[in-house]
Amino acid sequence: MKQRIDLASTALETARKSLNKQFYPEYHLATYAGWLNDPNGLIYHEGLYHAFYQHHPFSSDWGPMHWGHATSKDMVNWQHQPIALAPGDEYDRDGCFSGSAISHEGKLYLFYTGHIWLDGEGNDSQIYQSQCLAISEDGIHFEKKGVIIPSPEGYMHFRDPKVWYQDARWWMVVGARDSLDQGQILLFSSDELLHWSDEYQVLAKTDDKNVYMWECPDFFPLGEQFVTLFSPQGKKPQGHQYRNRFQNGYLVGNWSPNQPYEITNQFTEIDFGHDFYAPQTFLAEDDRRIAIAWMDMWESNMPSKVDGWAGCFTLPRELTLNDQGKVLVNPIRELTSLRQEAIEIKPSVLAKNQTIVLHSDASACEIELIWDLQQSPAEKFGLAIGNGAEFFIDGQTQQLTLSRHYPEHVISDYRCTALPQTRHLKIRAFIDKSSLEVFINDGELCFTSRIYPQEGERALTLFAINQSAKLLKGTMWQLNKSVE
Ligand code: FRU
Repeated sequence: MKQRIDLASTALETARKSLNKQFYPEYHLATYAGWLNDPNGLIYHEGLYHAFYQHHPFSSDWGPMHWGHATSKDMVNWQHQPIALAPGDEYDRDGCFSGSAISHEGKLYLFYTGHIWLDGEGNDSQIYQSQCLAISEDGIHFEKKGVIIPSPEGYMHFRDPKVWYQDARWWMVVGARDSLDQGQILLFSSDELLHWSDEYQVLAKTDDKNVYMWECPDFFPLGEQFVTLFSPQGKKPQGHQYRNRFQNGYLVGNWSPNQPYEITNQFTEIDFGHDFYAPQTFLAEDDRRIAIAWMDMWESNMPSKVDGWAGCFTLPRELTLNDQGKVLVNPIRELTSLRQEAIEIKPSVLAKNQTIVLHSDASACEIELIWDLQQSPAEKFGLAIGNGAEFFIDGQTQQLTLSRHYPEHVISDYRCTALPQTRHLKIRAFIDKSSLEVFINDGELCFTSRIYPQEGERALTLFAINQSAKLLKGTMWQLNKSVE
């Protein structure tokens, strides 16, 4: 594998030199160069956070999947590391697909899917996928150990292993598509990490007949329950829901080893923006449950491709479960270390059609706003970045909306969901060079989207249309750069 990694690293270094960084993030982890999709192998291991990712080092399009790698002391400041896995062995000939990591007795174990095209590249109806293992002593260089679980009879799409330890056993969930083209999660277990039995149970499966595959399953305790987080493919749009190419969301239920998973809360989307896919969770040093997703979507236009790169991660988010079995999603507290001094925004009533410019170049900013919904009769009010992106409260439809308009990139669309029925609406937004992440009422809702404002068109403004809106409190921070 070393030779293949060396070859890929040389290509990456060349590509890196000619990156156009107009859209390259200031504080989100992005590919060094080339292509990135899913986060893989997220883990706290021997004093460092490791993030791996689906990576094509030879171009800014998806291709034979490698695992890119970065490390961090705090999940905020990241350092790129050499590529960890390169495909090309018999069992992962055409790709090292997504998977997870385990830290055990000082070693770092990577579980991933070996992918093989059986009838030509890109023909998804003729593939072979198996679960494979690679191990590292130093956390940087990995040795492949080959297949640990071959594809079970009747399953061709069988990928994205997530492994954890519980009740003196190792457990693995794998995303699958059964012979009737229905999405499922298969559950395997083992009493030692190197050898896994082929026996499995179906832990959960789709109740929506259109859903043909569950990608990137994750299964973890949260509060008193077990959450299944996964990326279903095939869901049909319903009103404002499920408008992205593929979806992401969760089930909540009760589970203990050797008992069936008893679902108490049905499928709920976790994010309402355009670009949130294939999240993976892991435990922080202090056992908080953290999720990071790929901040893009399959088949979306990705304007940075011509700049020599495509793909970045969302901010790390802490997940908690509330009393109603809803997953709350909040940016991790470590992110406050990026803040420069606070700029207070004067409480005010925005008059009919008034616009307030808060920042002339919001390339890397965080903003917190509290609006009084009862005293805001405006048709529409909120924040805008240049002329291309808006996040607003739609008083007429009682929706929260994130809209984008970049005709030069053939991106013009909006996402929305019902406005929470609270008097005060708290908005916390993170703006980077090509992203907008908005958290509502301390994690009740979130929106994650890529945006593409040009240099010089990144003014951050507040606005109210036809009638007024009352801002009770506002604070803004310029954020420091945290990635190379
Ligand atoms: C999800 C996914 C995974 C697969 C990987 C390939 O985005 O399709 O199911 O392992 O990407 O890059």
